[in-house]
Amino acid sequence: MFKSILLVASIFLVHSLRGEEPEEIAKTPPMGWNSWNCFRAGINEEKIKSMADAMVSSGMKEAGYRYIVIDDGWATKQRDSAGHVIADAAKFPHGIKAVADYVHSKGLKFGIYSSPGCYTCQKLMGSIGHEQLDADDYATWGVDYLKYDWCNYPSMEQEALKTPIPECRAAFELMGICLKKTGRPILYSVNDECDKGTNDGALPWVKSVANLHRTGDDIKNNWNRMLYCLDQTAELWEYAEPGYWNDPDMLEVGNESRESLWSNISPVTMNLLEYKSHFAMWCMVSAPLIAGNDLRSMRPEIREILTNRAMIAIDQDPLGKQGRRIRQKDGREVWVKELAGGRMAVALFNRSGTPASMTVRWEELGISGHRTVMDLWKNSKLGIRKGSVTVERVGSHEAKILLLVPYLSSTK
Ligand code: GAL
Repeated sequence: MFKSILLVASIFLVHSLRGEEPEEIAKTPPMGWNSWNCFRAGINEEKIKSMADAMVSSGMKEAGYRYIVIDDGWATKQRDSAGHVIADAAKFPHGIKAVADYVHSKGLKFGIYSSPGCYTCQKLMGSIGHEQLDADDYATWGVDYLKYDWCNYPSMEQEALKTPIPECRAAFELMGICLKKTGRPILYSVNDECDKGTNDGALPWVKSVANLHRTGDDIKNNWNRMLYCLDQTAELWEYAEPGYWNDPDMLEVGNESRESLWSNISPVTMNLLEYKSHFAMWCMVSAPLIAGNDLRSMRPEIREILTNRAMIAIDQDPLGKQGRRIRQKDGREVWVKELAGGRMAVALFNRSGTPASMTVRWEELGISGHRTVMDLWKNSKLGIRKGSVTVERVGSHEAKILLLVPYLSSTK
């Protein structure tokens, strides 16, 4: 009896010492919308509020999307005499709290952006030296999500590139601690670059600090660039779990904006099939589903992709395991994601320029027996299979997503 009282007491103690459990915040990958991909710094109160309206009216909220996140471009280069960061009054005449209140009134959550340095990537005010003040302001405004982005640390980009790893990490840890001290549950998303591309070294560390970690450089609305972001994330599967997710960057599905591309990236944007593959593969790797298109003018085909319940269920599966690539040859890849209830999602992903017949064998998946196989994009049953399944035609740049469900029958 005494022992069990002790056990309960110690569990309670551990929980209260750790405070807000990160698992509670990002139990499954967050879903939402962020202003950067379609607006860059050209944001304002009306755009953000109308995007919250559109998230509801388009059915995105019903499909599970929650966060409306303002990216870089909301702040000025100034602080007031008491040290508080000042929002750009021309863009946000009623302040940030008014926007957050509006977003909350729609039953949605609200996110904002800052940098650990003196300036953000757009050279607006960053949080250095004011971390707790900023975190407290965010909490007062009702912020539920912070994207903290490595730029201009301590005050210039050249210095940021040379910052030693421990100092860089400490800057991200500091804001994490400040957010916790506010007592408000705030999802913490970091783009840290502390380990300069060696994600493996960064991950055990970053998992203890943040809920999301960007795995590579910025995504663009371009097939090869999307693949780069996916590849940066592929090998990190074992780190993902409820409370921490690898972040290959925001979605480009349906982003019709003429957002500036970098000179080394082809300006050819993704087509509808490529958007489907992009979305499906983000679901396979349990990525945050943060839309980056203009929700107010979304074509029905785009809405269908972003609100596809079967794909979203793969991303949000409660088991919380990131899918992994188990085979790749000549641009043809097989990915598998274990799901709750002994089910499995399998992606037959054809990155090559020609259509292909693709087969996956049970032994590659480490399973045996019969499975009911569904084609999730078609929402149709392929049949009951044993040993393997073949899809005769996987188009160029297509990702066929199969769901394998254990088939329990004594006759089979
Ligand atoms: C980049 C970041 C983008 C966006 C931009 C804002 O560093 O990767 O996602 O936040 O800064 O300036």
